[in-house]
Amino acid sequence: MCGIVGYAGRNAAAPVLIESLKKLEYRGYDSAGITVLGSGIETYKAVGKIINLESEIPKKLGGTVGIGHTRWATHGRPNTENAHPHNSGVNPEKISIVHNGIIENYMALKERLIGEGYQFKSETDTEVIAHLLHKHIYGKPDGKEAQCELLVGLREALKEIEGSYALGIISADEQGKLLLARKDSPLVIGLGKGENFAASDVTAFLNHTRDVIFVDDFETAVLSPSGVEIFDREGNLKEKKIEKIEWDFEAAEKAGYEHFMLKEIHEQVTAIHDTLAGKVSELEGAIYLNELNLSEDEIRKLSRVQILACGTSWHAGLLGKYLFEQLAGIHCDIDICSEYRYRNPVMNEGTLAIAITQSGETADTLAAVREIMSYNCPTLAITNVVGSTITREANSVLYTRAGPEIGVAATKTFSTQITLIYLLAVKFALVRGKLSHDYVKSFITEIRKVPGEIQQILNQKEAIKECAENFAHAKSYFFLGRHLNYPIALEGALKLKEISYVHAEGFAAGELKHGPIALLDEGTPVVAIATRGQTYEKMLSNIKEVKARDAVVIAVADSKDTEIGKYADIVLRVPQSDELLAPLLSIVVLQLLSYYTALARNCSIDKPRNLAKSVTVE
Ligand code: M6R
Repeated sequence: MCGIVGYAGRNAAAPVLIESLKKLEYRGYDSAGITVLGSGIETYKAVGKIINLESEIPKKLGGTVGIGHTRWATHGRPNTENAHPHNSGVNPEKISIVHNGIIENYMALKERLIGEGYQFKSETDTEVIAHLLHKHIYGKPDGKEAQCELLVGLREALKEIEGSYALGIISADEQGKLLLARKDSPLVIGLGKGENFAASDVTAFLNHTRDVIFVDDFETAVLSPSGVEIFDREGNLKEKKIEKIEWDFEAAEKAGYEHFMLKEIHEQVTAIHDTLAGKVSELEGAIYLNELNLSEDEIRKLSRVQILACGTSWHAGLLGKYLFEQLAGIHCDIDICSEYRYRNPVMNEGTLAIAITQSGETADTLAAVREIMSYNCPTLAITNVVGSTITREANSVLYTRAGPEIGVAATKTFSTQITLIYLLAVKFALVRGKLSHDYVKSFITEIRKVPGEIQQILNQKEAIKECAENFAHAKSYFFLGRHLNYPIALEGALKLKEISYVHAEGFAAGELKHGPIALLDEGTPVVAIATRGQTYEKMLSNIKEVKARDAVVIAVADSKDTEIGKYADIVLRVPQSDELLAPLLSIVVLQLLSYYTALARNCSIDKPRNLAKSVTVE
């Protein structure tokens, strides 16, 4: 998740762009940059916070049109070369662009453009758009004469791009204009008097105007100081509704949600979509994990996977254990990092270590990784933070593309971690001959449906809210799951504990009768994850055991399950899906249940007591 801004007005652009970028800093601050249209393209970039960029910019920088970007790295490390804007054209540069999104076919486009003489300065997917656009307008890398207008060239370039984008573009040959384009990434225009603004969200320009136009997918726009024109995919001028923003700054930063956690629960729709982007091909039944430094032969020779993680990431890892063993037939162990370091582990030949950590900075995880690397074991890190410590130590890194997570309780980073773990397990299974291409094709079809299915759950969140409010003052909560739903039960309990301070325990449902059932009494809420699958019938038996102790059963079940209502007191529904992927849906219900419980108990949701987002001490 990055932030883009743009300005076309009569005042100096640079201070407006810097002010706007500061407002978007919560979207990422690995690096930042601006371009203004002065006598030509003038670009300034810096690593780190916007304040670093500000000190690079000359005090009296001219130019009244410009673009800016604050980066949350996805392709390439956070350094000046990878910072936006990205430019194209040789002596002088002609085009400058900022981008939020992911270009899925950038490798193919990049190879083609290199073949045509374009030179790349960065590792980003975005630079491809700059050169592609230049090619459509100037014909060749050192072309000086525009062969068509910027807007015409843009429309042609967009036809070749697959992926998501919100783009801000300026050209040395079209003074006074700022162009925009959008597909699957947010983009909004602010209407001022003699000046117009653009940004990833309204917070960027709320100090200047509250009259906005939301840009929709496949639309392009041209902003000048005196006006805004918006075009559809075919280039026809469109009439758009002007909306008035009533939110204050704090509400706007959270996109109108009351808490970051709720916003981040909703962002799972795009976060999972982005994490899958460019990694799966339905047509070929293929999974591309190019960042994994293991050959197919090495994957075939693996005898064991050792997962290392803490907290929520450990729950993602536990799901991984089930998947690696069940799908790929690889023995898999999982350890809590703070234990692993001190238990003198026995190391087998052919072990791959997978460290899962959203922050990439958890002290226990880093120490466990160092321990296992001392046995010369190859390590793969799954993390959300480009450039974090783990990425500098592990042999391979797979990034979740969840964007910055501000709420202390992990939500979208958990679901994107498990998305990557599904891809890894299925890929390993394919390479090791345990699954066919046809199976993988249908798996890809199903996993691509998940973001839409999560949206359906979010659309029905009122039912979950009502349930949470009914039990908000329960002394204790229990979460039961079997098989793939067991890690989800553990994660559901952790979420509730963390943010609502209600005592909660997660159990493998079959374990209940071996002790924990003694804790149940009349009215204790027991959440039973009972989506259809190989352990469904057993789960029904466990639900009956719980009912016999007068506890209250809240079942999480498929939308088409007509049986569950006979046994459970309350049923929270998820869309009917592939059994393998149901955990990605059930967890959203449990996150919302925790969120609304904490809300009803008036807890500090985004910053729960005693907790830190990243635990950098032992
Ligand atoms: O950054 P990490 O994934 O390594 O963090 C591990 C745990 O500290 C973390 O998951 C913690 O449990 C969260 N507060 C969960 O919401």
